[in-house]
Amino acid sequence: MTTPVTIQFVDTDVESIADAPGRVIAFLGGDGKMGIAARRVDRLTRGALKRVAASDAFARLKPGEGLELAFPAGLAASALQVIRLDRKDDITAARKAGALIGRSLGRDGALVLADAVTRAAELSFGLALRAYQFIDRKTTKGEEFGAVTLMVNGPEAVAAEAAPLAALAEGIFFTRDLVNEPANILTTDDFAARLAAMQELGLEVEILEEEQLAELGMGALLGVGMGSASPTKVVVMHWNGGGEEAPLALVGKGVVFDTGGISIKPAAGMEDMTMDMGGAGTVAGVMRTLALRKAKANVVGLVGLVENMPGSRAQRPGDVVTSMKGDTIEVINTDAEGRLLLADVLWYAQERFQPVAMIDLATLTGAVIVALGFENTGVFSNDDALCEAFLAAAKAEGEGAWRLPMGDAYDAALKSRVADMRNVGGGRAGSSLVAAQFLKRFVKDEVPWIHLDIAGTAALKGDWAFGPKGATGWGVLALNRLIRDRFEG
Ligand code: BES
Ligand code: ZN
Ligand code: MN
Repeated sequence: MTTPVTIQFVDTDVESIADAPGRVIAFLGGDGKMGIAARRVDRLTRGALKRVAASDAFARLKPGEGLELAFPAGLAASALQVIRLDRKDDITAARKAGALIGRSLGRDGALVLADAVTRAAELSFGLALRAYQFIDRKTTKGEEFGAVTLMVNGPEAVAAEAAPLAALAEGIFFTRDLVNEPANILTTDDFAARLAAMQELGLEVEILEEEQLAELGMGALLGVGMGSASPTKVVVMHWNGGGEEAPLALVGKGVVFDTGGISIKPAAGMEDMTMDMGGAGTVAGVMRTLALRKAKANVVGLVGLVENMPGSRAQRPGDVVTSMKGDTIEVINTDAEGRLLLADVLWYAQERFQPVAMIDLATLTGAVIVALGFENTGVFSNDDALCEAFLAAAKAEGEGAWRLPMGDAYDAALKSRVADMRNVGGGRAGSSLVAAQFLKRFVKDEVPWIHLDIAGTAALKGDWAFGPKGATGWGVLALNRLIRDRFEG
């Protein structure tokens, strides 16, 4: 498992700056203002910081951006990174500044002179998020990041502020690791075992096996896994940090690999389908965060774990399956498997828990990428108030989210000749919306519900502000904030 880089907060000690190994990071206000530590760096480097402050290059920087001096005279450090940050700058700028440090962190670690930084805890959080690397599957050793020291005013207070953020970073890393992991390693069994291991943190974890799923009547979910040697499972994670109130239910699509099944996908790019368990990964990361920060809320996380493979036992196009709800579904395309899985897990979540609200996450449709690219998750909902609250939480955390419409016209496309419905619409038009409409058939009218289509946001093809290429952990931040603001007593 990838653990966040070690970060310690200490009082400012200007005497230790000259000999610090690794990288040294100093901050300058837009007006060139320096803190005590920065002033010492300026003196040691014979005025380098003042020259930076007076330069055009510095004038062009936005808050949270920086520039770098390599092997600076007067310091033992391999580099001096100078970042523009004002006392009044917001959380986003502080996280961005931290991410900049995280991006160029090396084996020798860093000394961050944050005595004049007002949001040092947020800065350390941005640093931790960006300094993620998935190296569990590499045999080359010694690539781990060196420890980071932040010199701050009042280290105890900053450390206390940073604690819940560290819980978030761990939850996000848990999600990223799951999403980055290849499918021969993260099998349904392995996934369930990793979730069961969270019992150590105080979560209650139940694993429902195929026999029980069959007894419950989950024919839609079970149909998806027929072609795979890996057993289909539903894992239920309970966090009971609240009172007696009904829980919020989080439901995740956990397709450990999506070949498409008999409606097989083209070979090019199929390897990306290791991330098709991103919804389940995010649910797991949120549950981990809630446990680590001992959230005062009742939340239940349910994930359907299954592998979509072709094979002699695989379900065929044209098969009719019966869902737990009782509705029959004609499987026109075995590659539209996520909605089949969710149909049963959503229904189970409502029947068993009568949740106050329900949010599902799924890498559900390629079409949502056509609509929104990689910047925004597609948001669908039957409840304006809940949806607005979620969008506000996502915005506050800098996670892109955009609401898309629902409506009867999209639902009409699901009419089947032989069953109660079919699993795809007529064609490509609005197919993310048709998929959301399919899910809605398995959501009770009185349950406030949000569907998040994270096909474009769960993993990225290049580096981004808060992480390297690969899994992002999108949604852990927004959901944690929504729970904190709306479901915590
Ligand atoms: N897992 C895919 C969706 C996906 C595509 C996720 C690209 C991430 C990146 C999903 O199971 C799928 O195959 N959807 C089909 C639905 C179609 C058959 C109606 C799609 O999007 O093509
Ligand atoms: Zn899929
Ligand atoms: Mn598919």
